[in-house]
Amino acid sequence: MQINVNTTTKSYPIYMERGILYHAKEYIGRCGHVFLLSEDGVPEKWRKVLQEQYPDAYMHVFHGGEASKNFDTLQEILAAMSDHHVSRKDTLIALGGGVTGDMGGFAASIYMRGIPYINIPTTTLSQIDSSIGGKTAIDFHGRKNNVGAFWQPDMVLVDVDTLSTLTPRHFHNGLAEAVKEGLIKDPALFALFEKEDYMDHLEEIIEKCLLIKKEVVENDERESGERKLLNFGHTIGHAYESYHGMDGYYHGECVAMGMMSIMTNEALKERLEKVLERLQLPSECTYDADAVIELMKADKKADHDRITIVQVDEIGKGYLKDITMDEMERMIRK
Ligand SMILES: NC(=O)c1ccc[n+]([C@@H]2O[C@H](COP(=O)([O-])OP(=O)(O)OC[C@H]3O[C@@H](n4cnc5c(N)ncnc54)[C@H](O)[C@@H]3O)[C@@H](O)[C@H]2O)c1
Ligand SMILES: [Zn+2]
Repeated sequence: MQINVNTTTKSYPIYMERGILYHAKEYIGRCGHVFLLSEDGVPEKWRKVLQEQYPDAYMHVFHGGEASKNFDTLQEILAAMSDHHVSRKDTLIALGGGVTGDMGGFAASIYMRGIPYINIPTTTLSQIDSSIGGKTAIDFHGRKNNVGAFWQPDMVLVDVDTLSTLTPRHFHNGLAEAVKEGLIKDPALFALFEKEDYMDHLEEIIEKCLLIKKEVVENDERESGERKLLNFGHTIGHAYESYHGMDGYYHGECVAMGMMSIMTNEALKERLEKVLERLQLPSECTYDADAVIELMKADKKADHDRITIVQVDEIGKGYLKDITMDEMERMIRK
């Protein structure tokens, strides 16, 4: 399956096929020398499959996890690129989850003012969401994704088989973003989670999400309008994420709880809660409301006493809504 993404800065293909990792080099073709990037949480089995196709290339393996998404790791990657004489004509290939894609994409965007990069996402979250769209970043100064760049990949290779080694918790974590996409854009996708066994429809779910994201990114690459819809559940979700810290809840889990907190349509909330339960995702957590409100205010989306949120009252019809901070606080305190 091939999807082409056409942005103002770049057009690139996403290829999705089980086992495609074993044929990565054939798809990638000629691209100068390659610099392979991965992290130590990606099973060696997958790293080896890529490395064997590029026996002469250097693979830099950094210490993974959200806590590594910082300047130190970025510097370590850039130094390795420099030490291995990566030139402007060469290509960085990132193999891993959202952290590897975000770090690799950002490193590629600034190394020699920008070199090509190819993303091979290996987590549900990165295959569904983070591998396309060109947002790259590191966490900085206590804020998530605070420093980064828009830098589109040159190609994305999605191999659903690589998800087989994920822990069940990481596997389900990414599906929260798919539930979100169903709620904001695609009633059939949401219905699939309500009525079908999602494991029988994994590729269909990923494909639907990639198509939604492609359309949104093509219409609004820099997030001045429609792309903001993808932030459904993220405003409060990010605050939960910061509140509970790196060892608390995962990103998708916080998005799941964030969607539950922001939705006001009770009937819809009940349906969402059932879906989250099926996906082994949390729908609520305990927290100190004052602390979460402070964290949310510090978030880049908060603009003085008003805030733009994404709301869903009818499945498939997400919309932007301007509300006061007081209204927002009431949602968090209830
Ligand atoms: N750029 C974007 O548009 C965008 C969108 C959403 C999220 N993100 C970012 O993505 C990150 C989260 O992504 P993630 O959930 O993929 O996290 P991650 O990259 O940390 O991967 C999750 C865990 O799975 C391990 N792992 C990766 N592939 C594996 C595999 N095939 N088998 C077994 N284990 C594997 C990793 O080592 C890690 O421990 C966050 O930093 C978030 O900010 C970016
Ligand atoms: Zn997200």
